Amino acid sequence: MSRIDLNVKNKGGEKFRIAVIGTGGIAHSHVRSYLTFPNVEIVALADIVPGKAAKFAAEFGLDKARIYESHEALLDAEAGNLDGVSICTYNCQHAAPTVYALDRGVNVLLEKPFSATMEEAVEMMRAEKRSGKILTVGFQPRFDKNMQMIKRIVDSGELGRVYYIQTGGGRRRGIPAGDNRTSFIRRDTAGIGALADIGCYSLDMVLRAVGYPKPLTVSGFTTDYFGKDPETYQNSRDPQRLADMFGVDDFAGALIRLEGGINLDFRIAWAMNVNTPGDTIILGTKGGLRIPSTDCWNGTTGGPMTVYRQLAGQPVEQTVPLLKDQDGDGTLWQRKIYSFLDAIANDLPAPVPTSEIIINQAIINGITESAALGREVAVTVPEI
Ligand SMILES: NC(=O)c1ccc[n+]([C@@H]2O[C@H](COP(=O)([O-])OP(=O)(O)OC[C@H]3O[C@@H](n4cnc5c(N)ncnc54)[C@H](O)[C@@H]3O)[C@@H](O)[C@H]2O)c1
Repeated sequence: MSRIDLNVKNKGGEKFRIAVIGTGGIAHSHVRSYLTFPNVEIVALADIVPGKAAKFAAEFGLDKARIYESHEALLDAEAGNLDGVSICTYNCQHAAPTVYALDRGVNVLLEKPFSATMEEAVEMMRAEKRSGKILTVGFQPRFDKNMQMIKRIVDSGELGRVYYIQTGGGRRRGIPAGDNRTSFIRRDTAGIGALADIGCYSLDMVLRAVGYPKPLTVSGFTTDYFGKDPETYQNSRDPQRLADMFGVDDFAGALIRLEGGINLDFRIAWAMNVNTPGDTIILGTKGGLRIPSTDCWNGTTGGPMTVYRQLAGQPVEQTVPLLKDQDGDGTLWQRKIYSFLDAIANDLPAPVPTSEIIINQAIINGITESAALGREVAVTVPEI
């Protein structure tokens, strides 16, 4: 999917009635994008912080949106009237509203990462199965043409059999925290740090390209040197408070053995003393692909990719030109929102399916488990 239909209508030419649960940072991107579709109405909003959803409604001029202070209250009152809900709560509050919505027959667009624990991921997939409703996860880079090109190159067979992948990324200093922004660094709200927040994107970029093979074993480690250091929060009124509050990882690395003989070497950082931990590399028996180091969570590759192979016994390199969006393609976020609306209107499968994202989650939780135990662990992905 690249072209979007801004005038997409629901079944029977109806408007889409959409609710948003969690009206913090990312809910803004959801609502801003929904409102570019004339046939979408934001009918209800919920946030557990009193007054927050009402303030959000006022910001967007959503005078008619009904306001609630819990996901239960919103869904108890509105479920029968909703076509879909965007769940924009912090990681540790992904499962409860998602299960509640699916069990009441509401389609869900859930923000990434899938969850904080495997148990929650499994619970959500069970609810998805028993409801028959859509549960799609908010990995917007999947709607970028250059990201899609990575999969197309692997699928073309030009690389031969893929046996090794190096991926990851990060920031020199980029812990998402401040005096009024703590949900990413607290264990009770985020559960996992950089590993889940931006690591999930790097994993998705390469795992999707190679068909999401299941993990077999993981040897991982995590650190929190920067998160626990008050120096990190120089712009804060109380750096020590944030350092004390920091309860997740700011760096993670792992060697992951995947089914099909693929070895995945991964690292991710919210903070580190280097500009980049390296490009993404996919090595195959016939060719190799270099994807320039990328903030792939913002949507695209870090520059043109290169394919390396032998031609008539000589090493050759081919640059893959960057693909540009055309008129009518919409923005990345419009494509993410459109994929959800299109699936609702046309009874399509979830555009970012949980059957794949559970594997992403199993690796993330495998890394945290391995890090806690200080040794390699076996990973199994439950069948739902
Ligand atoms: N796709 C992206 O580009 C992207 C970018 C940023 C964040 N995210 C994801 O979005 C999620 C939210 O991030 P954020 O930056 O908006 O966090 P945030 O802390 O700013 O907002 C979360 C909001 O959810 C509310 N909330 C929590 N539990 C609730 C519940 N049960 N019912 C109603 N409201 C509830 C909180 O009070 C808060 O206002 C995270 O999982 C994050 O990983 C995605």
